Amino acid sequence: MRLVVGITGGSCAIYGVALLKALEQLNIETHLVVSRMGQYVVEHECDMKLEELKSLAAYHHDNNDLAAPIASGSFRADGMIIAPCSMNTLGAIANGISNNLVTRAADVTIKEGRKLLLLPRETPLSVIHLENMLKLARIGVKIMPAAPGFYHQPETIGDLVNIMVGRTLDQMGIEHCLSKRWGED
Ligand SMILES: Cc1cc2nc3c(=O)[nH]c(=O)nc-3n(C[C@H](O)[C@H](O)[C@H](O)COP(=O)(O)O)c2cc1C
Repeated sequence: MRLVVGITGGSCAIYGVALLKALEQLNIETHLVVSRMGQYVVEHECDMKLEELKSLAAYHHDNNDLAAPIASGSFRADGMIIAPCSMNTLGAIANGISNNLVTRAADVTIKEGRKLLLLPRETPLSVIHLENMLKLARIGVKIMPAAPGFYHQPETIGDLVNIMVGRTLDQMGIEHCLSKRWGED
């Protein structure tokens, strides 16, 4: 399996980092693209420089490189996950704007009919944010608010992150044992 992973400038960069680690452990080929603000938030919240983040992915592409393989539908990928997805990037995708590699790769994912999962994070959500999400959900994009459930009594931030990353992998059809499932011991 080959996935494109985008990290943009929403808070909760920890989900993007944990997702890359999980995909690496599962031997899934990842193509990472990070926006300028995504890099800023990863550094600020996770104390992680871009070089370290890049080392978690199989391939890294510059967000300005609109000629990168993932900018073309002819490059085979099984889907794309943007975690976290800023309202800026979500709005651009919802309106067909693809002026950087994150938004272009998302546009390609949609036009090729592949799975696109977005983990948006903002509060409160404005009508503009909600309308953009609805527009994307209507064409099959999965909107997965970065809001883990608490019904498994998480004790650490790591537990919460695993719940969210696990649900994201579920949506991609990837087997994992990151978190417990309701109704199973
Ligand atoms: C520390 C920090 C946290 C931020 N958190 C959010 C957030 O949770 N959601 C959001 O939509 N934007 C957030 N922003 C603002 C975005 O980074 C900003 O809108 C930026 O233009 C997004 O660019 P990008 O989509 O290219 O990453 C945050 C900015 C900073 C500096």
